Amino acid sequence: MIRRASNDDLAALLALCESIGLFPADELAELGAMMAEHLEPDAISDHHWLVDDEDGDLVAVAYVAPERLTNGTWNLFLIAVRDDLRGRGRGSSLVRHVERLVAGRGAHLLLVETAGVPEFEKTRGFYARLGFDREAIIRDFYADGVDKVVFRKRLAEAG
Ligand SMILES: CC(C)(COP(=O)(O)OP(=O)(O)OC[C@H]1O[C@@H](n2cnc3c(N)ncnc32)[C@H](O)[C@@H]1OP(=O)(O)O)[C@@H](O)C(=O)NCCC(=O)NCCS
Repeated sequence: MIRRASNDDLAALLALCESIGLFPADELAELGAMMAEHLEPDAISDHHWLVDDEDGDLVAVAYVAPERLTNGTWNLFLIAVRDDLRGRGRGSSLVRHVERLVAGRGAHLLLVETAGVPEFEKTRGFYARLGFDREAIIRDFYADGVDKVVFRKRLAEAG
């Protein structure tokens, strides 16, 4: 079941993010601080942490928020599925959930960014299959030789 994460999920969410191996230790600490801020019970925030909760086990996570200084452009900053459960449609369901969520909040554009290296070829294919267009490349963004590829999807107006 896809649901909004709460403060109680913090430790499990961080463990999931650590297990996917995308983040070095210093970035994980930063991620943890961001989560804690947005998952505060009384946080009034347009930063959405979503989890796929399978009988109490968090098996996937997505983090989406508006791009600052834009009107209706959002960014899917993070999406990850537990490695033993990939390729079964969970990631696609999560993206569709995110699209509905942000469209309902007035988004017209959803961006997602990833690295241009061969290890992320499947990830880039995943976004393309979900209807995202490869819009821009910033060469050497993440590190020298590691480009950032920006994907863009125009969202239908929420009815
Ligand atoms: C990218 C990711 C979120 C996709 O979620 P998923 O549940 O595996 O994807 P789905 O089952 O909905 O869709 C499957 C498609 O995603 C692609 N895909 C991307 N990474 C994959 C992986 N590690 N394993 C299997 N499929 C993957 C496949 O090409 C597949 O298409 P195909 O079945 O036609 O080959 C997930 O694989 C993941 O967490 N990867 C590691 C973290 C990551 O790269 N996140 C994005 C950072 S920018």
